[in-house]
Amino acid sequence: MLNISHEIGLGAVAAMKRFVRREQSTDSSRSRDVEAVLRRVTEISDEVTADHLMRVRKYAILIAEQLGLGEDLQMQIYFASQLHDIGKLAIPQEILQKPGSFTRSERVIMNRHTLLGGEMLSDYHFPYLEVAAEVALYHHEHWDGTGYPYGLSGEAIPLSARIVAVCDVYDALRSRRPYKDSFSHDVALTAICDGDGWTLPEHFDPQVLAAFVTLNRWFDEIYTGRLDA
Ligand SMILES: [Fe+2]
Ligand SMILES: [Fe+2]
Repeated sequence: MLNISHEIGLGAVAAMKRFVRREQSTDSSRSRDVEAVLRRVTEISDEVTADHLMRVRKYAILIAEQLGLGEDLQMQIYFASQLHDIGKLAIPQEILQKPGSFTRSERVIMNRHTLLGGEMLSDYHFPYLEVAAEVALYHHEHWDGTGYPYGLSGEAIPLSARIVAVCDVYDALRSRRPYKDSFSHDVALTAICDGDGWTLPEHFDPQVLAAFVTLNRWFDEIYTGRLDA
């Protein structure tokens, strides 16, 4: 099982690299290249995933702005956050859609979406894609060192990934998934700030968490579609 998935993963990585290279070589405008890649990712994502990606980029730019990051970096994080789960394109559907909990080997395969995403986006010396590669690789790392794939902690995790982490978890808590119901804004907020047995506040950069708390009502507005950031 693991080996088959590994082969599927590498095939998808190669296909994505070919796609990105073709997009880069056939268009002289690099920002149009990035837009084309993002459009394609959204097209090949299912509706639920596409909506998740669109919302995460909106939350992420709000936090980047709240933290006082420069406009260039804000935009890089905005585009990069949309690609955070690109590695899931290489994970078998039966695992992605599995209702209920994963077996140990399924969990290992699922967690590989970080490594696969980082690999798909590596080797492109273009700021948007460099930030996208680090977000894809590190968005499941935790501030307290309990995350994956490497168990990095604190500032060893790139800031872009620390920002996307809280956005991704908030949206996952709000959303219905094959293995869980959707939660209200207040339940999601409490889970992130006080912990719920799965999510813990120690998972997040304290400054990013403070920005999230300040902005939390806007997150609800974005999730419910009342704010089109
Ligand atoms: Fe992820
Ligand atoms: Fe995600």
